[in-house]
Amino acid sequence: EKGGWPSFMDKEIHEDPAAVADTLLGRFDEKGDIVLDEVRIEPDAFRSVDKIIVVACGTASYAGLVAKYAIEHWVRIPVEVELAHEFRYRDPILTPRTLVVAISQSGETMDTLMALRHAREQGSRVLAICNTQGATIPRESDAVLYTHAGPEIAVASTKAFVAQVTAAYLLGLYLAQVKGTMFRDEIHQVLDNLKAMPDKIQWVLDTQRESIERAAKRMLNAHSFLFLGRHVGYPVAMEGALKLKEIAYTFTEGFAAGELKHGPIALVDEGEPVVVIVPSARGRDTLHNKVISGIEEVKARGAYTIAVAEEGDPDAERYADIVFWRPACPTLLSPLVDVVPLQLFAMDMANLKGYDVDKPRNLAKSVTVE
Ligand code: F6R
Repeated sequence: EKGGWPSFMDKEIHEDPAAVADTLLGRFDEKGDIVLDEVRIEPDAFRSVDKIIVVACGTASYAGLVAKYAIEHWVRIPVEVELAHEFRYRDPILTPRTLVVAISQSGETMDTLMALRHAREQGSRVLAICNTQGATIPRESDAVLYTHAGPEIAVASTKAFVAQVTAAYLLGLYLAQVKGTMFRDEIHQVLDNLKAMPDKIQWVLDTQRESIERAAKRMLNAHSFLFLGRHVGYPVAMEGALKLKEIAYTFTEGFAAGELKHGPIALVDEGEPVVVIVPSARGRDTLHNKVISGIEEVKARGAYTIAVAEEGDPDAERYADIVFWRPACPTLLSPLVDVVPLQLFAMDMANLKGYDVDKPRNLAKSVTVE
């Protein structure tokens, strides 16, 4: 069933483009308006939503963090992201106007299930973003927006992540549409940009393999890795760090690049690998310069730097030791491409170390205990 691929993880990373494309499929009409009739929440109920709380664990929670940046920008309502296992123990503020979004690939994660039960008991609506038809989480939710990534077999989540992020964008655009917080043309524009993402992911898969494998070989004996990113690059950094620790058993820490000087820079020593998600250099972005100066700071302390950057970014070329390139795209959508080289990097590291990338030690595909 691996269809000729050496591992399920390899196969599933190569299904990232299809996971995004299939999740978009049928979610808009010929005019370019978002159609989410299938979720079965009345547009009026959506209109009244004044806060979103995403509950999820692990990779799904990082998809939620990406959603926060996009939905707050598009819909102008607060979005909180909470690890599901922390959620119900802290007396969260839930009202009938709160929409709780439970993100789960398996749909069976007990922590997430308990969080959504709590939210419903408190009178909030729950919408599940789930990859598994008929699983417990979608069954117990008020509504469901399925991701169409197809079955994910490898324990480490890859194509499900890009599908979750895509579904979250759709939810954000739909809310913007019913609440009128974006012009229709703007929504159509974002949708067009989203439709272009599968080809951009494919470009990464087609052109970056060699440099990623080279970097993995070069870094094989590293004891730890730091991953840093800013804005939507922050959840990508967290996800890249999680992938590497899960399957290559390397100590990693992902954090927001701005935190560097508030502590983590103390860890940087000669040869320490630091992976940096660099935002686009185009447009208003002072973000880009700040992240680049983060690279300079760690380099000045001897770090070995790997950048994920937009094709042709002269600063990334100049300051980073290795660059994984990705095509240009709008900043809010960039996690869909930025995460891909990090998925491949983690897989290459694990393969080179001789580990079973599909079945990492101590981990199960779905965590059905609290
Ligand atoms: C990471 C990973 C886990 C899951 C988490 C949530 O590669 O697989 O962090 O993302 O256990 O699982 P789901 O999405 O099934 O609720």
